[in-house]
Amino acid sequence: MATYRPLRLLLKEKNMKKFYLLGIGVGLLVSGLTFGQTDVAWDTPTTQTRDAFIDQLMQRMTIQEKIGQLRLLSVNAGPDASREPLKSEIQAGNVGAIFNTVTRPRVRELQQEAVEHSRLKIPLFFAYDVVHGHRTAFPISLGLASTYDMDAIALSGRIAAQEASADGLNMTFAPMADLARDPRWGRSSEGFGEDTYLTSRIVGTLVRAFQGNSLSAPNTIMAVVKHFALYGASEGGKDYNSVDMSLQRMYQDYLPPYKAAVDAGAGGVMVALNSINGVPATANKWLLRDVLRDQWGFEGLTVSDHGAIMELIQHGVAADSRQAARLALKAGVNLSMNDRYYGQYLESLLSTGEITQEELNEACRRVLTAKYNLGLFKNPYRLIEPTAADAADPNAESRLHRAAAREVARRSFVLLKNDKQTLPLKKQGVIAVVGPLAQSKIDVIGSWSAAALPRQAVSVYEGLAKATQGKAQLLYAKGANITDDRNIQAYLNSYNAEIEVDPRPASQMIDEAVRAAEQADVVLALVGEARGMSHESSSRTHLDIPACQQTLLKALKATGKPLVLVLMNGRPLTLTWEHHNADAILETWFGGTETGNAVADVLFGDYNPSGKLPMSFPRTVGQLPVYYSQLNTGRPPDPEHPGMYTSRYFDVEAGPLYPFGYGLSYTRFQLSDIRLSSSTLPRQGQITASVTVTNTGQRDGETVVQLYTRDLVASISRPVKELKNFHKLMLKAGQSKTVKFVIRAEDLKFYNNDLQHVAEPGDFKLYIGLDSREVKEQRFTLL
Ligand code: NOJ
Repeated sequence: MATYRPLRLLLKEKNMKKFYLLGIGVGLLVSGLTFGQTDVAWDTPTTQTRDAFIDQLMQRMTIQEKIGQLRLLSVNAGPDASREPLKSEIQAGNVGAIFNTVTRPRVRELQQEAVEHSRLKIPLFFAYDVVHGHRTAFPISLGLASTYDMDAIALSGRIAAQEASADGLNMTFAPMADLARDPRWGRSSEGFGEDTYLTSRIVGTLVRAFQGNSLSAPNTIMAVVKHFALYGASEGGKDYNSVDMSLQRMYQDYLPPYKAAVDAGAGGVMVALNSINGVPATANKWLLRDVLRDQWGFEGLTVSDHGAIMELIQHGVAADSRQAARLALKAGVNLSMNDRYYGQYLESLLSTGEITQEELNEACRRVLTAKYNLGLFKNPYRLIEPTAADAADPNAESRLHRAAAREVARRSFVLLKNDKQTLPLKKQGVIAVVGPLAQSKIDVIGSWSAAALPRQAVSVYEGLAKATQGKAQLLYAKGANITDDRNIQAYLNSYNAEIEVDPRPASQMIDEAVRAAEQADVVLALVGEARGMSHESSSRTHLDIPACQQTLLKALKATGKPLVLVLMNGRPLTLTWEHHNADAILETWFGGTETGNAVADVLFGDYNPSGKLPMSFPRTVGQLPVYYSQLNTGRPPDPEHPGMYTSRYFDVEAGPLYPFGYGLSYTRFQLSDIRLSSSTLPRQGQITASVTVTNTGQRDGETVVQLYTRDLVASISRPVKELKNFHKLMLKAGQSKTVKFVIRAEDLKFYNNDLQHVAEPGDFKLYIGLDSREVKEQRFTLL
């Protein structure tokens, strides 16, 4: 039976309550404090407007101090003697902000240098990549997207913000709003998939979750949306590659998610590493000034990505590092991540007139404004006091939010196949648990797992063992390594010991797994990618499950035992063999700290899977890009008559293996035909499309009802389907509910080739379905 725990209730858990109380306590304490410097201009900040305060402060700053504010430096958490030179730099006013320092004592130590020992006592802020959780890892972003559940996503963001701010952090480099339509790109894992509407909604939700109602509240962090812009569209899915794209597609598909973050109030924007139509984003005035500032009215902070200013030389737009610094500042990059060149060259560039005082002031003002908005001038210690409240162990179990992580994780899993109701399993008999990911704790937390520790994660084996204790017998065999390719093993282990390579011959490992399978009633194969395979700089040309794991699967299949694949991966894979040979397939992405328990919940039916794919799964790599919202072309393929001269690959069935929006349930849902309130939509009016959804199966469950439209005739070709709305709902077995979607002319707008945002009159199709392929259909006319 599905157990449904309203997510809001989870916010009221013990730990969360503690957070709120602590927050209020710290807030009261802060408001009662006088911030004791005698010679500083912000003694009474509340009596001044922010801008006047910053004007006054800037009048007192030297050029060198202004440049110092533009420098964001990385400092690791570990104790280390090399902090002394950094401290001197902070005292000299040469540092604006720090990233990668993640404990209160370390944050305090550096903040003290700034506010007690520097001339103007300007506080630092502290940033980190809090992408899908902080101490508690939630599912990777692609998994969060699969929930189609804004409450669940908001919950993950709120908890991440609370855990991160409790460690003294002020800012996260998230969410990642890069649309990804080529799963070869390893960073597909960090985003929310291929769709503009879904990604925009999630990005807006996360910005609001991170930032709460006020950035100066004690349990919020500033969101820096990244990577502006179009990083996910790098050619061929190869990381850091160039992007060449029409303006129409940019405005229509790729830019809206970043804009959604800006509209939700994101305090910062991280500039992408790639070039756009030949101009690197980091030197791109059009992008950073015309689009971001003038068209979107963004008032916040821009941050370069790591090394991006230096890379302007490799891009071939700067002859040397001095020119690189000049280009970036002029283009509108305020803060320089891991800075060398701003510190080194801006002063001399100013003296020669190659940059202006206004340009320097502008960047400095943005940084100071962010600090002001974060409440740091009022109290730079606001997140790190009192000292006595420092966690003795920052990773203490009591600081984790396991129940919420488990709830969100199980909502993120997508059931891709379930023949003959293989799933859910009964907690009885003998279950073989096989595969290189079955006992992994490091992979489940996913890449960019912030301050989460693998040892605190629940492996799938552990989760299953706990759920079946005293009821069923588990047999374990590793069966295969993640990969037998030594170059790939070395690559994955080049920074960390990420994958453990079992030295036994592959045949011996397989034999052991087969023996376990032969004794079992059912085989669970935990296969897929190591987390490092779906990461920055982890683009792949093959999207198969690595060869040695496939050999294992074939051997398991040959035993004739029911075969359930539990997949871990950070991108769509090509699963054609698996689809035809496994009895059931559950996609779990990388589910975070509570993965094992969440997988057990789903496999044993304590939670009925409800996730839907945010990205299409191709049949072969050669099909890429394959995404649902393609244009029809002049020669669309006809699945009924797959003849010649149509737009398809002749050697593979057209379309993806699993389409966008797809995901099964242990129950069945039926949709009625669509009822339209009217078949004409007046320009200023609205129409309503309703469907009745019925749970015709035996179990309670949730599903996602999806609304798509197609503009049939327009001044430019429009996609065959575009997601316009969706609604996730819970239905008890046998229950029916009506879902209503309102459609307005505004929803039908697109950018024409003059970049005007228009809704053109004419006929539209409207589709409602439980995925993007199987849909009900209606028509209406926009007047
Ligand atoms: C480089 C990555 O591209 C970016 O996403 C990240 O925020 C920074 N490094 C900081 O870690």
